[in-house]
Amino acid sequence: MRKLSFILFCLISLSASAQMTINVNAKKIGAPVQSTQWGIFFEDINYAADGGLYAELVKNRSFEFPNPFCGWDISGKVTLKDDGLFERNPHYVRLAPSGHSDKHTMIENHGFFGIGVKGGEEYRFSVWARVPDGGSAKLWIDLVDNATMDEDQKLGNVGVDISGKDWQKYTAIIKPKRTFAKAHLRVWGDGKVTTDVEHVSLFPVKTYKGHENGLRMDVAQALEDLHPGVFRFPGGCIVEGTDLETRYQWKHSVGPVENRPLNENRWHYTFTQRYFPDYFQSYGLGFFEYFQLSEEIGAEPLPVLNVGMACQFQNGENAHAACTKEALQQFIDDCIDLIDFANGDPATNQWAKLRADMGHPAPFNLKFLAIGNEQWEKPYFDRLAIIAPEVRKVHPEIKLIGTSGPNAEDDHFHNGWPAMRALKCDLVDEHYYRDIQWYKNWMNRYDDRTFYTKDGPRVFAGEWACHDRGKKYNHAGASIYEAAFMTNIERNADLVHMATYAPLFSHVEGWQWRPDLIWYDNMSTARTASYYVQQLYMLNRGTNVLPTTVAINDGKPSVNPVPKGEDGVFASAVIDKEKNQVIVKVINTLGEAQSAQINIAGMKSKMLPTEAVVTSLDCSDYDAENMPGKPEVVRPTQGKAAVVSAKNASTIAAVIPAKTLQVYCINF
Ligand code: AHR
Repeated sequence: MRKLSFILFCLISLSASAQMTINVNAKKIGAPVQSTQWGIFFEDINYAADGGLYAELVKNRSFEFPNPFCGWDISGKVTLKDDGLFERNPHYVRLAPSGHSDKHTMIENHGFFGIGVKGGEEYRFSVWARVPDGGSAKLWIDLVDNATMDEDQKLGNVGVDISGKDWQKYTAIIKPKRTFAKAHLRVWGDGKVTTDVEHVSLFPVKTYKGHENGLRMDVAQALEDLHPGVFRFPGGCIVEGTDLETRYQWKHSVGPVENRPLNENRWHYTFTQRYFPDYFQSYGLGFFEYFQLSEEIGAEPLPVLNVGMACQFQNGENAHAACTKEALQQFIDDCIDLIDFANGDPATNQWAKLRADMGHPAPFNLKFLAIGNEQWEKPYFDRLAIIAPEVRKVHPEIKLIGTSGPNAEDDHFHNGWPAMRALKCDLVDEHYYRDIQWYKNWMNRYDDRTFYTKDGPRVFAGEWACHDRGKKYNHAGASIYEAAFMTNIERNADLVHMATYAPLFSHVEGWQWRPDLIWYDNMSTARTASYYVQQLYMLNRGTNVLPTTVAINDGKPSVNPVPKGEDGVFASAVIDKEKNQVIVKVINTLGEAQSAQINIAGMKSKMLPTEAVVTSLDCSDYDAENMPGKPEVVRPTQGKAAVVSAKNASTIAAVIPAKTLQVYCINF
């Protein structure tokens, strides 16, 4: 954030069209705000895992893609073999001498849209290799710029000595001499001796928290900086799969990376207008890494597992896309074993032992498990009715999350909620990727306690984002409605325990779906306007809701007096009992500035506050969009506002510019 500018907001002269009063009652401390209130949802869509968060720079490193040389150029005597040492990834490549000193044997990897390297940084190359005929051999590893006009394409290189008939892992460090976003990796065979290579890998040495099988620093840092309270993974539709065979299987995503089998990624082929034939899931970023990341960014892990059904969108009534109820045992086992993997005792449980062997003997402290993503009607209800009680029998301490389908207002949704209630789910996942008008119409969604009852499951808004019609990109004009809608969630924190914006990531050269929270290319990231909206709520979550009403022109005070479907000023407030702070969020979605008097009653202050820190996000430039290369078009700014305080009553004369989110923090 920009440093404090010390601008007194009350001195800004802006035309104001209505007199508004925002009354915050700090005497009546309301429902606790859950630590999980605001979170993130990760799915491997838009090259979010391989080519994104996962720092591996080599694509198809084990030659297991259906086209085993996808991502590779080959030259000389290269043959594919399939009797390698990794059972689930048996392919490897034999590099044989070409028989002539001017003919070279070489394989060259293109990475993901090229390999992004920084000059002077270290990159760890690794390979499993052997000399099948015995003896020793030399491999040369080059990072190259194929397009350079220099005499030599090499950005950096290193030699690796290979010896013996047995497979061994070799590593070497390469330091490119300059930054380049589109490098390739060349592995040269020994000109005299046949050499076998397998699992060819390249990682930056600097990964998030320094893990070898690690995460891209800038991308993971963007997550840490958000301060999410909950982390939902690994999807989304990829949990379901286009068919059950290609569903996400967490058990395939743990253990040594070399032996994690390749899976299809449905986002490779879901949209023919955005087709990515080289998009697969290596599972290098797997459940261990997801749990570890949750822990490192301070978010509760929230895995989603398959309920025995492939994607209903893609399969309609096709019965073969779901397993029979009799065959559900493996899905029950997947749930129970996952809880043991996360929380169990390594001395007594094989899955917990695997966790310990992978480097995390302490439990991950899993508390939530979602079963099914965007499933609906009887096929789902019947299967969940079998799985949930079995999981509860063994792990009653885990909160189970059901789904109300892909839409937040249709018949499936209205049938889903009572069914989830009957199955005693702790939370119900609802999704709403909707346009601006939908958000304007639903600004009181969670005030309705006839549909959402006082008891029973709590709401998990598991995937949501404002997509304006025909404007499916991250423009600030839509983000302001997300900010306004979040007041509706915040004031109903007793009901809505979690909300996770979606999707999280997108590679500029590999996206299938937008808007997304964080964009990147091979070298840098951009945090969108929606990111800053989420971040402002996450940084200012508070501990308890404070009753807040808004009155316009002496009209009746109400939690939201803005007529349904219209623009206006929306507000909510929380108290942070640990930080001794009252936090008021005010969002003006109108096209003109509005003035509002913010009254805070009952703040038990030792000294009378005289100023508030105000953080503002100006979304008035409707099309403004942060992207790599221009990442700071829309950014929060900080200033101060004067607070006039008498005993137990403080007042701020606020001016909220057009299309702006303001967060007022008052210390007491
Ligand atoms: O976030 C993209 C997709 O949207 C998710 O995979 C799915 O759950 C939803 O339909």
